[in-house]
Amino acid sequence: MSAVSVRPEDIRKLADEKGYVIVAHNYQIPELQEIADYLGDSLQLARMVTKIDAKKILFLGVDFMAEVMKVLNPEKKIIVPVRHSTCPMANSLSVEDVIKFKEKYNAPFVVYVNSRTEVKAYADIVCTSANAVDIVKAIDSDTVLFGPDKNLASYVAEKTGKNIIPIPGETGYCYVHNYVKEDQLKQLINFHPDAEIMAHPEVPKGIRDLAHFVGSTSQMEKYPATTNAKKLIVVTEVGMIAKLQKLYPDKIFIPVPSMVCYNMKKNNLKNTYVALLEEKIEVHVDEEIAKKARKAIERMLEITE
Ligand code: 13P
Ligand code: SF4
Repeated sequence: MSAVSVRPEDIRKLADEKGYVIVAHNYQIPELQEIADYLGDSLQLARMVTKIDAKKILFLGVDFMAEVMKVLNPEKKIIVPVRHSTCPMANSLSVEDVIKFKEKYNAPFVVYVNSRTEVKAYADIVCTSANAVDIVKAIDSDTVLFGPDKNLASYVAEKTGKNIIPIPGETGYCYVHNYVKEDQLKQLINFHPDAEIMAHPEVPKGIRDLAHFVGSTSQMEKYPATTNAKKLIVVTEVGMIAKLQKLYPDKIFIPVPSMVCYNMKKNNLKNTYVALLEEKIEVHVDEEIAKKARKAIERMLEITE
């Protein structure tokens, strides 16, 4: 078969023949969302992979998500289409930073799942955007180190009233969500005055304050069912639009066109097909690091639904 003629059904067929379960994040391109056995946000994916009994997983997302799966399922074979689909925000916090801040503040450290696995190994507990507020509320301390996302940190501080110290600080943010400008959003609102706004908590406070609803991608999936609004402006990565449109064909979802995560978009039909064909790009995590990171992830899974 010529590589350019790969169709979603070719991938599906090959995955079934080889016994792979396809797990994808909500930001994948619509054609890949279509062939996924499981499609979800970071928390849903982490939970789900511990429950399925498949031995082989093709993961479509970015590297820290694939590593969470491997950490929770060391016995499973996990393959990905490209080696360097990463998350710049996750990479913005180093172990050295964590050690430095822990020494300075002597406070518990809650790490956002968008982080390196070796950083999770130094955390007291992991959280995702779906449960960050509940996790921080559950921590027995009024001062909490939180990283790497400064915007999620400020959202959590607002919702919990706790003293949240963002680490590494000003340099911890997602470029896709952080650079949405209030003027840009207000322009969209002017074009669609009847629309409601849903925003991911990785956006800055000014954007958050314009939103009717703030939540993770899985929480955004539920919100449209609770409102009479026919139009919704979706302030997160553009991949969410396809999923929302499929779930609510009678509503109109308006993207913020600049919100593209180039790493999420590195996966395409061609390299996904080749990944299954060759089964070469496998996810590995150092066992010592995995053991420590697993504790912090499992603590999260124990205290949230
Ligand atoms: P969710 O867990 O809400 O899907 O977010 C993951 C992410 O990378 C947001 O940019
Ligand atoms: Fe990372 Fe932002 Fe892409 Fe999410 S959207 S994976 S936080 S760069």
